[in-house]
Amino acid sequence: MSDRVHRDFLTIPDFSKDEIDGLFRLAERMRTGAYDARPLAGQALAMIFVKSSTRTRVSFEVGAVQLGAHPMFLSSRDVQLGRGETIADTARVLARYCQGIMIRTFAHSDCEELARHADIPVINGLTDQQHPCQILADLLTVVQQFGSYEGKVIAWVGDGNNMANSWLDAAWRLGFSLRLACPEGYDPDPALLKRAQSVADVRLVRDPREAVEGAHVVNTDVWASMGQEEEQAQRVKAFKGFVVDAPLMRRATREAIFMHCLPAHRGEEVAAEVIDGPWSRVWDEAENRLHVQKAVMAALMGHVPLT
Ligand code: CP
Ligand code: NVA
Repeated sequence: MSDRVHRDFLTIPDFSKDEIDGLFRLAERMRTGAYDARPLAGQALAMIFVKSSTRTRVSFEVGAVQLGAHPMFLSSRDVQLGRGETIADTARVLARYCQGIMIRTFAHSDCEELARHADIPVINGLTDQQHPCQILADLLTVVQQFGSYEGKVIAWVGDGNNMANSWLDAAWRLGFSLRLACPEGYDPDPALLKRAQSVADVRLVRDPREAVEGAHVVNTDVWASMGQEEEQAQRVKAFKGFVVDAPLMRRATREAIFMHCLPAHRGEEVAAEVIDGPWSRVWDEAENRLHVQKAVMAALMGHVPLT
């Protein structure tokens, strides 16, 4: 059993503002090669995937190796979890072999249940409700581009999904301005919206043009997330007018950038001229998953201080 106090990363507010700033500093040192230590030497990371992934799997796997750990890809199709072994039992057993668990799954409560029963750090690699690692990578991209997220206006155009919820949590924790344009019926979590609005300039609107006015960052995501495939046709109708195209980007500030967590559907939520054009930072954004998750693993599993 682990004899150290452990911390999980299930949502953005699991870290303080100072810690998030520390994560970004450490991630930048990792990116530039200034930090090349192996604080996880001899450790093992279990990576449970109940949903598909390209970026999350590869960035965690490569990142763990670079920090000295041994990552294990555990598809729920192959481990006993997929045959009915409980999350609690899975957590207890993995904690006897490993020093950290990353999980991507459907219900956020499953992620919380795993964290409750594993006495090692658990990292949320996406649930139906949250995608905190992606938002850290997105914010790091903003910091690289503008020097800081302070005083910046972030626009979200599209579904009030896991990404939108994690943006709300980030606005609550860090205090930047957030404008969300979502079609009626596709709002983000009302409790997270209310909490963010209690401390930050956060607005939910119906018109994407209103959301991007004065924005430094325009952000979108697929209209149908993993698990919503059968709603695709209905969603295409509901999201009419929500495509991020060049005319919409021109309404943002002159220096505005475009971000998308990927995978993307060109011609659906984003026009090719935007994602493949000069506004786009999507490849840096994807790369930043590696750096920022390494910083998270180093902090939680390697107890590297975030000073
Ligand atoms: N952005 C993201 O999480 O990508 P994957 O689904 O490929 O992991
Ligand atoms: N909202 C998307 C993000 C994919 C990385 C989904 O949950 O499928």
